[in-house]
This record gives sequence, structure tokens and C-alpha cells, in this order.
Amino acid sequence: MTEVLVIGAAGKTGRAVTRALLARGVGVRAAVRAGSSSAAYAGDPVHAVPVDLVSGTGLLRAVAGVSAVYHLAPNVHPDEVEIAERVADAAVAEGVSRFVFHSVLHPDDASMPHHLRKAEAEKSIRARIAGATVLRPAAYHQNLVDAAQAGRIAVPYSPDARFTNVDLDDVAEVAARVLTEDGHDGATYDLAGPERLTVAQMAAEASTVLGRPVAVERIRLEDWVAGPGAELDARARDELLAMFASYDRDGLVGDSTALRSLLGRDPKRWREII
Ligand SMILES: NC(=O)c1ccc[n+]([C@@H]2O[C@H](COP(=O)([O-])OP(=O)(O)OC[C@H]3O[C@@H](n4cnc5c(N)ncnc54)[C@H](OP(=O)(O)O)[C@@H]3O)[C@@H](O)[C@H]2O)c1
Repeated sequence: MTEVLVIGAAGKTGRAVTRALLARGVGVRAAVRAGSSSAAYAGDPVHAVPVDLVSGTGLLRAVAGVSAVYHLAPNVHPDEVEIAERVADAAVAEGVSRFVFHSVLHPDDASMPHHLRKAEAEKSIRARIAGATVLRPAAYHQNLVDAAQAGRIAVPYSPDARFTNVDLDDVAEVAARVLTEDGHDGATYDLAGPERLTVAQMAAEASTVLGRPVAVERIRLEDWVAGPGAELDARARDELLAMFASYDRDGLVGDSTALRSLLGRDPKRWREII
């Protein structure tokens, strides 16, 4: 059976892309960190292979014989560019020319260092595989769903900043298409959701859908640093603080035309996935 290699397959995005490929009847070779649980795939026809993205151990074996590679980097990873080069080099060495990179909306936004690493990773991949396809997703609706359902969305930036968040399953459906259909060589697609909403509007819509109050709150940066940010190393924490400052100023807004066209339908709205 044709198999697609999904890098980071045990993570949030990797699991969604894996599900979308399986739903199309495509076999998945799931690159997971050695020792990481592949229990997420119990019962699915998924072939888990151990890969260390930092050392490169297991990469060549993982890539050998697949029809395509879906590459995503661990979030705010300092070696994102080197990891992308390693994965692309392995694909070239094994003669796999269909390569899709999961980038981010506005990778060249200089106010966010981790976005700039995605821009550089895109360039490095295309220098090795000119026909690589690049997907640039907006922030996922799913980042805020659990908070909405728990009745309180708290963010360390202005609740009045605007976002065109996107359904992760829509992104995964597009990923599965471009990995298995012709016509996307060398393409770059912005994948933004269909509506511009502030976080305050998302909370109000969630409240209407759920039939109970959903509060919205701005967390002070010092509380974020002492709370969720305390688990991170200093560099990752500073990069996320830069992202919050950018969100505070500009939100994160893109165009949903490509997503609508690739899906052949309207992308999912926030209120449809709460
Ligand atoms: N969240 C969003 O709204 C959004 C929007 C656009 C783009 N993105 C981008 O999407 C990408 C994926 O995000 P995500 O939230 O899905 O990430 P995630 O859940 O953290 O998944 C990353 C995966 O990479 C694996 N990994 C980490 N270090 C590794 C290593 N050394 N060797 C092998 N595997 C390793 C992790 O393995 P373990 O499971 O063992 O930890 C995890 O399964 C990121 O680059 C992010 O910037 C995210």
C-alpha cells in the first residue's frame, strides 16, 4: 500500500494529518520520537517508526519507500531550520520528491523570531526540493476550544485583537489532498479561516452555542511568565512573549480564498467546532 511519512505524528497537528490520510484510505508511516507513545494509533493501520529529528537517527529508514513526506517542526524549536534540512536531505537521498512543509501564516513577520525560522526553513527545503509544497496555516480554532468549553478564555494579549483562526481538521484535509493529488508542486497556500473574530467575539459566540456564560480575560504577562511560561526555557518563553506582543498589536489575519478553493466548500467557522 502507498504510505505517506508524517513527521511529528504523535503531536496535535500530526495526529490530525494522520487521521485525514487514513480517512482517504492512504497508509501512514508515523515518525514518532523514540520512547514516545504510539498508543494514539492503537487499532489504526499506522506504521510507527522511531525518529530523532535533532540527531537525525532513524530518518533515512523512515523515509525509504514512502510516496510523500509531510514535515512539521516541533513548536518554537531552536533547530527548526536544521531539522527541515535534515528531513529534506533524507527525502532527496531516498528519491522521494513529493514533500509538503507545514509552515505558518506570515512566516516573514520579523516581529516573531519563530515565524522567521519557518521562512528560512521554507527556503532551505525549496533549495533542496524545488517542487516542495508549503502550507501556511493560521492559528487553529482548536487552541481555544477547551477553554471555551470550560467557560473561560484567558489570553496574554488584547481580547480585541482580530484573528482568522482555522479548523485544524480543514488544514489536515488540505494536507491529505496535496500529499496524494497532483497539481500542487511548488505551490504555497495560506490557510486562514473564513471570518475575522476577536477573542471577545469568540467567547460571546461560544456562550451562545453552549447556552452558558463564557468569560474572556486578559492575563497579565507577568502572570503568564510565572504560570504556563515557567515550564519553558528562556528562549522559547521570549519567543512566545514576542508572539503575544505581535498578536496584541496586529492579531493574526490572513486570506481564506486558497483554503476554500482547496476544500471545495466553506472552511469551518468557530461556532461550528465549539
Ligand atoms: N498551534 C497552531 O495554532 C499552529 C498554527 C500554525 C502552525 N503551527 C505549527 O505546527 C507545528 C506543529 O505544532 P503542534 O502543536 O502540532 O506540535 P506538537 O503537538 O508539539 O507536535 C510536535 C511533535 O514533534 C515531536 N518531536 C519533538 N521533538 C522531537 C524530536 N527531537 N524528534 C522527533 N520528534 C520530536 C513531538 O513528540 P512528542 O509527542 O514525543 O513530544 C510531537 O509529537 C509547529 O511547527 C507550529 O509552529 C501551529
